[in-house]
Amino acid sequence: MRFKVGICQFKPELMRIEKNLEKMESLLESVLADLIVLPELAASGYLFNSKEEVINIAEDSNNGPTATLFQKLAKQNNTSYVIGFAEKAENGIYNSSMLVNPDASIYIYRKTHLFYEEKKWFKAGDTGFKVFRAKNNVKVGLMICFDWIFPESARSLALAGAQIIAHSANLVLPWCQQAMLTRSLENGVFSATSNRTGKERNGDNVLDFTGMSQIVDTKGQIIHRMNKFEESVFVTEINPLKSEDKNITEFNNLFLDRRTELYRS
Ligand code: ACM
Repeated sequence: MRFKVGICQFKPELMRIEKNLEKMESLLESVLADLIVLPELAASGYLFNSKEEVINIAEDSNNGPTATLFQKLAKQNNTSYVIGFAEKAENGIYNSSMLVNPDASIYIYRKTHLFYEEKKWFKAGDTGFKVFRAKNNVKVGLMICFDWIFPESARSLALAGAQIIAHSANLVLPWCQQAMLTRSLENGVFSATSNRTGKERNGDNVLDFTGMSQIVDTKGQIIHRMNKFEESVFVTEINPLKSEDKNITEFNNLFLDRRTELYRS
């Protein structure tokens, strides 16, 4: 099976949703792929200083500006997209990502492991790690940024049948990109980490994002890694069915050899 998967790395401007969506549209409008993963909080930026700022940029998951643009692009380009956004829900605001399909269907993941001051702005996710069908019925598992440091995140998605992990990120710590090689290897899944780039300032606070978005195969090998600074889209062809093979040797299988009775929860 041939499936074109992509990553889109760019520098959002803080709280300039319209401008950021225009930028994503211009980066993506002529790119043909089956699935493209975009960064965490891609339309809003990341470094908030108050709850009011977060309330102002939070969006409805079905008809907010991000959902509206990506439903249009998904139909126009016959592509599925995964994109991070601040989700305005009835009981609060979540740091979420949405899978948007060419048939206009939308599936939501709410970030489980909030990082640092995100705990001041967002509710901890309550969706758990779910696998959704993207274009061509490919099974895509969603996780967001700091979820990477908990191996249970990728493991849960793999056990739920994910073929590709769509990992939207705004990374500032230096370890994730290398760690994701192991997440792919230990679970036998492809991973697409789409990180943002650039420095973001808000008052006295500043963050420097690490870029280096990447696509990794089921054996933990880097298919492509961007540099720290580029703003670009990369697409490669993979066979998602490779993730069905969990054998490591003829005696060893990633799932069947697990000794859950000896593990702690
Ligand atoms: C992060 O979870 N955005 C570092």
